[in-house]
Amino acid sequence: MPALAIRGGTPIRTAPWPSWPQHDERELANLTRVLESGNWGGFPSPNVMAGEFAERFAAYHGAKFGICTTGGTTALEVALRAAGLERGDEVLVPALTFYATAFAALIQGFKPVFVDIDPDTWCIDASKIEAAITPDTRAILPVHLGSRMADMDRITEISRARGLKVIEDCAHMHGGFWRGKGAGTLGDIGCFSFQSSKLMTCGEGGIIITNDEALEEQCHGYVNSGRVKTTDRQASEGTLLGWNYRITEFQAAVLLAQLERLPEQVERRNANVARFDERVAQIDGVSTLRHDDRQATRSGYGIILRYDEQAWGGISRDRFARALHAEGIHLYTSFYTPVYKTPLFAWRDAPIEVDYSQTHCPVAERASYHEMIWLPHEVFLGTTKDVDDICDAVEKLRLHIDEISN
Ligand SMILES: Cc1ncc(COP(=O)(O)O)c(C=O)c1O
Repeated sequence: MPALAIRGGTPIRTAPWPSWPQHDERELANLTRVLESGNWGGFPSPNVMAGEFAERFAAYHGAKFGICTTGGTTALEVALRAAGLERGDEVLVPALTFYATAFAALIQGFKPVFVDIDPDTWCIDASKIEAAITPDTRAILPVHLGSRMADMDRITEISRARGLKVIEDCAHMHGGFWRGKGAGTLGDIGCFSFQSSKLMTCGEGGIIITNDEALEEQCHGYVNSGRVKTTDRQASEGTLLGWNYRITEFQAAVLLAQLERLPEQVERRNANVARFDERVAQIDGVSTLRHDDRQATRSGYGIILRYDEQAWGGISRDRFARALHAEGIHLYTSFYTPVYKTPLFAWRDAPIEVDYSQTHCPVAERASYHEMIWLPHEVFLGTTKDVDDICDAVEKLRLHIDEISN
């Protein structure tokens, strides 16, 4: 009688996982208020709820200013433009991230230069940044990937010494803190996404936060059809070549409610991830990414179970993942692949020529193709039993390793 679900045995987990997104009467009440007010759009910018949300979200992370945008990608586009990059300028980007991080630069003619990831945190490897700097480098774009924050101490040190701007991609790190400072406030600008799978969501949306008033003015103008922030419509038009990336009051209504829920969710996820870390440490052949005590939060958008193929007698990560999934565990394998591998860079639309045929970031490739088991954040919004189910399933696979390999 086989034990493993992949062979017809009983799965460890059959109950559903916590669902995402979550909402309650607070979203409903705010949405109704907007609907009934008749004030639906993003203009004047910021509008009432968008302005209130931006202020609260920025304050929560310790930033003076917040500027809402239509998404995480557009937040990055605006931030890079506001940071003063020009066509052909280079921006250092981690090799492993969602490709929008690099596309936000490339679509404007700024050249993404890929830096390999740190083997312990899977964020940009700060020790490899200096070697990647050229006379054309203008900015560093660290991504706080999954649940870990990039080494912002080292990154800000390098950026100060070299006169580079730092734009943090915080699409995975709402409510994250590093040495007591909020994600997005450690560099010059922080960019967040509110796309539907993210830690806070209004379906689609984003925000830029900063402590720099001049950058805030620029970002605001780029989001608001080129207008700088003023109520004088005539006087404010035509100052920048901007986009219309304003969000609607409906989106802001949802975000205000989501922000109220964030601290409690961060706490719950942290507690569950702490237990996960402890249990995984007891299981051979798997590990979690190293937690750095400078980071207050243990968890972000994706929680990584790191697979060691050798310790499983050469069974591939994908085979292991199929067996784990059959046990009822909600997971992804190559959630991200090294960005320089995407064929999209050959698109005729790219405004500058880039050639990544010689780019090779071995740590990112190993992580993506051999080690990554990506567990979505909502799985850690449940109970201790949920965490135990995941770990029990891995232990079960370990006990019946021969059923996976045959
Ligand atoms: C790391 C990272 N950067 C940028 C983005 C882009 O955000 P959006 O989808 O809101 O444009 C995402 C998410 O989708 C992301 O995961």
